Amino acid sequence: MIYFDNAATSWPKPPGVAEAMTRFIDEVGANPGRAAHRQAIESGRIVYAAREAVCEIFHAPDPLRLVWCKNVTEALNLALRGLLRPGDHVVTSSMEHNSMMRPLRALEGAPERHQGAPERHLGGVEVTVVECSPSGVLDPAEVEAAIRPNTRMVALNHASNVVGTLLPVAEVGAICRERDLLLLVDAAQTGGAYPVDVQADKIDLLGFTGHKSLGGPMGTGGLIVGERVDETQIDPLIRGGTGSRSEYEVQPDFLPDMCESGTPNVVGLAGLEAGVRWVLARGVQAIRAHEVTLTQALIEGLRSIPGAIVYGTLDPELQTATVSFNIDGMRPSLVGLRLDDEYGIGCRVGLHCAPTAHRTLGTFPDGTVRFGLSAFNTADEVEIALGAVRQLAADAS
Ligand SMILES: Cc1ncc(COP(=O)(O)O)c(C=O)c1O
Repeated sequence: MIYFDNAATSWPKPPGVAEAMTRFIDEVGANPGRAAHRQAIESGRIVYAAREAVCEIFHAPDPLRLVWCKNVTEALNLALRGLLRPGDHVVTSSMEHNSMMRPLRALEGAPERHQGAPERHLGGVEVTVVECSPSGVLDPAEVEAAIRPNTRMVALNHASNVVGTLLPVAEVGAICRERDLLLLVDAAQTGGAYPVDVQADKIDLLGFTGHKSLGGPMGTGGLIVGERVDETQIDPLIRGGTGSRSEYEVQPDFLPDMCESGTPNVVGLAGLEAGVRWVLARGVQAIRAHEVTLTQALIEGLRSIPGAIVYGTLDPELQTATVSFNIDGMRPSLVGLRLDDEYGIGCRVGLHCAPTAHRTLGTFPDGTVRFGLSAFNTADEVEIALGAVRQLAADAS
């Protein structure tokens, strides 16, 4: 099996991840922050160690301003629904994942397409979607031009999950500081694979997911809340037990507790810490260099195949290790099926939860075939996959 579906979730996980999770189950097991016995204290230590590791990788100064969520989708919902109010305006890009686009459309008050939809209690937020180029490139000047007097936030992914194109978050961060706006970044595709520095890049809210390049298990993720965000203005998505201020019937008003109700996923966070520590030990820059080399070989190889169409910037320095392509005359779904059945290559086909991005790239509605590489893939695997695509393209011609 060649696993090229890392843009969806990474596999295999780094050494130590499964062991850390097993250790928690076998030897710790207790609820953190809710009791004073030694197992509970060890559980709390694991949660805090995971906060420190994630903050280290993103250069976030305060581990207590990291809110655990079950994934980046929840983190983005928390940032958007928690901070935006009717009358506010948000600027986003046309390369967003539905995890950004759907909560934004709901805040805008867009009717949802299902039978018997309940009366909406959201609405009134204005959204501007800045069009990216057909290779997914966002021009920061267009973001600036979209700013209005009531703009409160710019919300962008750091890299497209369809074609890997990197968005200019640092440039937009500088604009946001100048115009006193909040910058929310979805780092699902870059965390652990590309340097992210919330301070240098002037990111106020960073959503991350644990199960991709950070090497952790599913069910882990979070939102890093910068100093410029007034946490008392965040409306938590849920309320409940936090283990703190138990004497009050109302929600605490301090981070992270105010946004972390209910028993956390400590087994997952034990694995996430191990994953992030592995990434830090190997080095994000070293992982990035490895992935650039593989991406270059993949893009060049695909472009040399008659009938293969490659999307995006075609420059490995301007993107992550996610490459989208099609074969002329063969639907992406059939390409994916044959790659799996005949060559043992696992990839993802279709729209990748990002219909707006596919409209931008000109690949809507059929989508593309997506190869998502990771730190664990090799040049040999890329060569084998290129041979398979070459054969399929020959069959289709
Ligand atoms: C850019 C981007 N945003 C959001 C998500 C959603 O991630 P999760 O399902 O972990 O919340 C993904 C994952 O596919 C993604 O690539």
